[in-house]
Amino acid sequence: MPEPTPAPTPDAARPVPVIIDCDTGVDDALALLFAVRHPGLDLRAVTCVAGNTDVDGVVRNTLTVLERAGAGDVPVARGAERPLIEPARAAHHVHGADGMGDLGLPAPTRAPDAADAVTVLRREILASPRPVTLIPTAPLTNIALLLRTHPEVTRNIERIVFMGGAVTTGNATAVAEFNVWHDPEAAAILLTAGVPITMYGLDVFTRVVVPAPGVHRLRESADPAARLAGALLSHRPATPGEAPDAEEAGGLGDAGAVCAVADPAGLTTRLLPVEVTLAPGPSRGQTVVDLRPRPGEAEIHGGTRRRTLVDVALDVDVRRYVDLYLRTVDRSG
Ligand code: BDR
Ligand code: CA
Repeated sequence: MPEPTPAPTPDAARPVPVIIDCDTGVDDALALLFAVRHPGLDLRAVTCVAGNTDVDGVVRNTLTVLERAGAGDVPVARGAERPLIEPARAAHHVHGADGMGDLGLPAPTRAPDAADAVTVLRREILASPRPVTLIPTAPLTNIALLLRTHPEVTRNIERIVFMGGAVTTGNATAVAEFNVWHDPEAAAILLTAGVPITMYGLDVFTRVVVPAPGVHRLRESADPAARLAGALLSHRPATPGEAPDAEEAGGLGDAGAVCAVADPAGLTTRLLPVEVTLAPGPSRGQTVVDLRPRPGEAEIHGGTRRRTLVDVALDVDVRRYVDLYLRTVDRSG
């Protein structure tokens, strides 16, 4: 089995150009706060897609978070209103009526870019002096449309690190993770992009949890962006079903995928074949990850198909990413 491609560790002297495609989203907001504040990341644009809430809500939430983080004029663009084939299916039960925890945040003062997300993605990817790392933390609709409309962008993409999929258990269904389930065809297109891909799936996503004292510290911070991170984490109880406003541990969710770009050494990956199930039925949207050490009867009897190899996240250094997140986002100390 080939080894995963080692990713360089970014530093402030040579920040990694990144673009986040998101459906903000409580944990997408946590991801944005981190990306703005990490000195090793150069956030060049944020593109929005329907997912946790409708796309206009995602644009509003994204602009509000970026303003709170002091992101300046990072371009924000509105993307797809719905998946390629499926209808949009929001996750308000997880992310609140406004898609971002119903925290009563002010409306943004800034407007989105006049161009749509696919146009902005192409523009910013090709304009970057160094190849861009694309970080989708949402259904992959914008990315699929980009790859089909402007395939030339892949020449300036270093890697795609996406939050989505799962090796073991799903969340939207028993086997399918929300972002892939929401637009399975788009996820299948992503997997054939022809650039290195890291799958930051549910197996690691659910494990990176900030303990209650860390959440408390953020909530009490003198830094408004850190206080927002604390409030968002309080909306993400580690144990499903607990009171959403209780002060307790909270999962970093999508922010873990951005930590994986800032600090790749905290993630253990293996280069493995991955396919998305597109057939209707109970396994639609499942990412089928082939962990077998050797070919099985299907291959022996001549049934081989071309399958994409993806760096699949199998383990994560939880403590390392929690510490990284806390010290990056809180500037009060
Ligand atoms: C994914 O779905 C969304 O609810 C989260 O923002 C995350 O991107 C987890 O399945
Ligand atoms: Ca998301």
